[in-house]
Amino acid sequence: MMIGGLHISNVSHAFTAGCPVLNGVSVFVAPGELVCLLGPSGCGKTTLLRVAAGLEVLQVGQVRVGERIVAEGRHGVHVPPEKRGIGLMFQDYALFPHLTVLENITFGLNHAPQRRKWASEALTRMGLEAYAGVYPHILSGGEQQRVALLRALAPEPQVLLLDEPFSGLDVTRRASIRAETLGLLKETGVATLMVTHDPEEAMFMADRILVMNDGRVIQDGTPVETYFEPATAFVAALFGPVNRLRGVVRGGHVATPLGTFDATGFKDDTAVEILIRPEGLRLARPGETPEVRAGDVPCKPAPVSGRASRRAPIRAVSARPLGRSSHVVLRVPDGDGQALTIEARVPGVFLPQPGVEVQVTVNPRQAHVFPA
Ligand SMILES: Nc1ncnc2c1ncn2[C@@H]1O[C@H](COP(=O)(O)OP(=O)(O)O)[C@@H](O)[C@H]1O
Ligand SMILES: [Mg+2]
Repeated sequence: MMIGGLHISNVSHAFTAGCPVLNGVSVFVAPGELVCLLGPSGCGKTTLLRVAAGLEVLQVGQVRVGERIVAEGRHGVHVPPEKRGIGLMFQDYALFPHLTVLENITFGLNHAPQRRKWASEALTRMGLEAYAGVYPHILSGGEQQRVALLRALAPEPQVLLLDEPFSGLDVTRRASIRAETLGLLKETGVATLMVTHDPEEAMFMADRILVMNDGRVIQDGTPVETYFEPATAFVAALFGPVNRLRGVVRGGHVATPLGTFDATGFKDDTAVEILIRPEGLRLARPGETPEVRAGDVPCKPAPVSGRASRRAPIRAVSARPLGRSSHVVLRVPDGDGQALTIEARVPGVFLPQPGVEVQVTVNPRQAHVFPA
């Protein structure tokens, strides 16, 4: 059986001897699948795409498009970029200024009248039918981006590589262009590998997210897995600010000033770090019933030193409205006379005055325990 898609196997790459930028990276993208490479700037994302595209000569490993080997390190196979069946759209894509929008898309498709029909229909679908005959310079950034995408898709590549394709767009247009792009890619059935450093974009677009750091893939999972089951503290922190607590494991649990969390699998006396996302806290005023869901960890404030019966309350430090949610900073007594500062992000308007007591519960799915 033919297995299509993009297969990158054990690719390593160094621009300077001894300083590898990619370290044994393997990626598989099935036909019709959209995989996002997510990672901080400089971790090797663009280099991996350039190696797959053939813009860099592969040093170690193998790249296949379907069954066809297009690059192999040891044997020196190097199929040139235009013969790989790979469409590219990189950050600095440039349309041909002297060709119209439609000519840009159909450039090089001499004997494919049905692709011209596809190009006209796709322009309509993207809301660009009025621009078919104009030159690219009159288009906005978002419109040019969509034309470049159609140009990459026009020759019906088996594989599409996108490097930060939405980074040049303003925030208001980005969301709708992402959605249109996603719809179009899903219709074509192309195997898409897309680079982004924006975790929200990766969550929105991806069937699978590959998290990269320092030239290695450190996690490969669905967006929900990557967000709720981060493999390392690095992955957890990639999705936004996190509260970091410390503790020591006793009997499969770790006690913190914010409550006691499950630490199954850790040996007693292991020092651990507990990362809690701001959106993992639920808050209520004293006397109000907090919205507790099954499995929530109630935060009993730490006992005041030496007097287990008296607990210092958690209090608001500040609270700011964010529109759909509120950002609340809390002071959590640690039981030793000190206090931790914790950030919460809660739905709706929840704006306690500074100093007001707040009841806290934690969604355990948003609390992640890692070795310290
Ligand atoms: N042509 C090059 N020559 C030398 N070093 C390079 C070259 N291209 C990229 N690098 C280095 O490789 C590392 C990874 O770069 P890159 O793949 O562009 O990362 P990312 O796309 O994840 O931001 C960086 O340290 C970068 O400086
Ligand atoms: Mg890059």
